[in-house]
Amino acid sequence: MDFFEVVKVRQSIRAYCDQPVEPEKLQAILDVINRAPSAGNLQGYEVYCVTQRRCLTDLARAANQDFIAQVSLALVFCAHPARSAQKYSQRGVALYCLQDATIACAYAQLAVTALGLATVWVGAFNDDAVRRAIGVGKDLQPIAILPIGYAAEKPDVRTRRSIDDLVHRIA
Ligand SMILES: Cc1cc2nc3c(=O)[nH]c(=O)nc-3n(C[C@H](O)[C@H](O)[C@H](O)COP(=O)(O)O)c2cc1C
Repeated sequence: MDFFEVVKVRQSIRAYCDQPVEPEKLQAILDVINRAPSAGNLQGYEVYCVTQRRCLTDLARAANQDFIAQVSLALVFCAHPARSAQKYSQRGVALYCLQDATIACAYAQLAVTALGLATVWVGAFNDDAVRRAIGVGKDLQPIAILPIGYAAEKPDVRTRRSIDDLVHRIA
């Protein structure tokens, strides 16, 4: 699939087959994440790669979204404000680390799709419950959970705003 095809076919999947993700596919996703740009190249975020059954269940509870417990792999993206603060002080803390983590997660979502796997961006969760599940402290801000697996559903494609509504041209 070329890039535009990947973007076109990606959709949020909330039902997964009982089929593990191949280790080489996981490695390819991690390699893509590590290519993502970041402010000052500081990579102000951490990625937790979760395969432990109990942790996956805890993440599903933290998000109150049961489908997370269906997968055998989830990635949790956490902003790491202190890393970005090294160079950018308050702007690093309040903005860049969040952007870094978000970009990395967006790259991961597309890599997952390109590999024939499925995911959904999970952003609704209890922050502290996610921290407890992955064993981190308040120095990290959970940004997103990506459950990753093989799709067991084919949802209708969600509509978008029109380009004219979305884009404000200043010519
Ligand atoms: C920041 C963010 C948070 C989201 N949080 C959730 C979530 O907690 N649970 C969920 O099922 N989907 C979540 N989604 C997925 C969106 O609902 C989905 O991307 C949107 O409806 C468009 O559908 P599509 O991804 O199939 O194109 C989130 C997406 C984003 C970008």
